[in-house]
Amino acid sequence: MARRIRVNGDLFALLISERRLQARVRSIAREISKEYRGTVPVFIGVLNGSFMFLADLIREITVPCEVDFLKLSSYGDSKISSGNVRLLKDLNCTVEGRDIIVVEDIVDSGLSMQFIRDLIERQNPRSLKVVTLLYKKGSARAAVPLEYIGFTIGGEFVIGYGLDYAQRERNLPAIYRQVQDGVQPRMRQSGTQRWSSSRRVRRSTR
Ligand code: IMP
Ligand code: MG
Repeated sequence: MARRIRVNGDLFALLISERRLQARVRSIAREISKEYRGTVPVFIGVLNGSFMFLADLIREITVPCEVDFLKLSSYGDSKISSGNVRLLKDLNCTVEGRDIIVVEDIVDSGLSMQFIRDLIERQNPRSLKVVTLLYKKGSARAAVPLEYIGFTIGGEFVIGYGLDYAQRERNLPAIYRQVQDGVQPRMRQSGTQRWSSSRRVRRSTR
């Protein structure tokens, strides 16, 4: 596994290896399986970023379960959050009376998760919990409850294991963090790094 990769001139360093990811996913799945024994929860994956985490997670779940998806957009084509969350694909399942587990790739400002929690709460689930693989510490603008967190990370932009950079790099089996913004340093803002995705993405290892 490459320790550093270059994507269109920007440098990324390995943050969480495939091995650590898989170990953590197994341990969260064990916890959830224990807690939901005797129930049939519905896992709701938040597209697109959560697809890989969700696929690995539910393969380790030992209670019968269902899977559904919803899709949101708040960033559009840029990595600057508009703070304006839109529902691009609604749920197909019936939420009322069910045990719902929302599966997310990363919680940053928390605005997306706030939107999802409100959406599901309105439909009267029996219970609602959230599992997020990554949580960007200190950046949550909306204080939203997160029942299971895989890893707490810094504010850097991360890619891989479902997380994209301009829709690419989701297929990386590990998580990489940006260590250098080679292209548009003026877009960097205090605390979090902001991202323009209008460029063509090229990946190379070094
Ligand atoms: P929030 O509404 O600010 O919490 O944003 C959550 C969504 O933004 C996540 O579900 C991701 O799709 C996306 N996102 C936030 N930070 C990153 C990142 O570092 N890399 C890739 N996507 C990110
Ligand atoms: Mg997401």
